[in-house]
Amino acid sequence: MTELAFTRTTADRRSPAEREAILADPGFGNYFTDHMVSIVWTKADGWQTPEVLPYGPIPMDPASSVLHYGQEIFEGMKAYRHADGALVAFRPEENARRLNESARRLSLPEIPVELFVAAVRELVEIDADWVPSGADQSLYLRPFMIADESFLGVRAAERARFLVIASPAGPYFTGGVKPVSIWLSETHSRAGRGGTGAAKCGGNYAASLLPQSEAAAHGCQQVLFTDSATDDTIDELGGMNLFLVRADGTLVTPRLNGNILNGITRKSLIQLAKDRGLAVEERDVTVREWRAGVEEGTITEAFACGTAAVITPIRELKTADFTIDFGDAAPGPITLSLREELTGIQFGTREDPHGWIDVL
Ligand code: PLP
Ligand code: COI
Repeated sequence: MTELAFTRTTADRRSPAEREAILADPGFGNYFTDHMVSIVWTKADGWQTPEVLPYGPIPMDPASSVLHYGQEIFEGMKAYRHADGALVAFRPEENARRLNESARRLSLPEIPVELFVAAVRELVEIDADWVPSGADQSLYLRPFMIADESFLGVRAAERARFLVIASPAGPYFTGGVKPVSIWLSETHSRAGRGGTGAAKCGGNYAASLLPQSEAAAHGCQQVLFTDSATDDTIDELGGMNLFLVRADGTLVTPRLNGNILNGITRKSLIQLAKDRGLAVEERDVTVREWRAGVEEGTITEAFACGTAAVITPIRELKTADFTIDFGDAAPGPITLSLREELTGIQFGTREDPHGWIDVL
């Protein structure tokens, strides 16, 4: 097992006053803390001594594989400040395991789960002053791995680097819990059978940017992708999973079909819903079913979920031909109460029945 003792090179990039000003209104993804974690891997020697470094540019050879073939994977997770001062993470080992699933698909090295969690713990400890305490605020953590061998042949790199950076964060969508509009991408797909849809790799997000711009041009905050084989079976949003809620309280969400991310928020909500006795259907679900369900009154709510988005109610799905609109019915009561329950566990104002909170 790799040594878990980190070397530390410290530096305070910002004064306490600058930090407080940022924490008062961080937005999402705009500011970064004073430090980062870096761990180099080589095929010959495995994982090297983990380092805490001042946050800043990393050395990068112009021939690095990541710059040419996009061999990159990442995670998104959050650290929260509880009222008693404890700094905690939500299911961090799930992120470590998922990073390793992405690593297998992208031919990158797997990282020991304990080393991943130790890296997160180390960064949160050294940058503890950056964990905000305001309502709906957290420290967003971005562990990622890049292939940085200098070699232009197309093969798996034999040198990689795992890094963790951190960013104080408020709500991802500026309206907070205000219902969002989503746009159905009919011309572009995100994933296809056997592709990288289930991996959290940068290329999937690069491919989502054009449809996301189309969504924005139609006044929508997110883009919805359907399965490229049927054009009607719902996969997921650009950066979130999707749930529909039936009038009887049943939750319906696309099954893990190999094209979508196995969301940790999705998995947690399925558990919380089942704990309440709600039925949860993980299956193929189509835009046609959504439209008919809203027209008939059998589908009454829809929401997006993910680490960044938490649970965000969906007001409408816009397409080139029609709009499915919940109007003033959004946000619905089940969306709101699941949101309240999940965030209560994360922020420590509710019991944590499944042991999802890890004190850092
Ligand atoms: N789907 C995509 C494409 C995502 O980028 C995310 C965000 O990480 C999710 C789903 C939700 O996953 P999680 O709940 O683990 O954050
Ligand atoms: C996350 O929720 O962590 C993501 O990676 C999605 C992105 C929209 C920020």
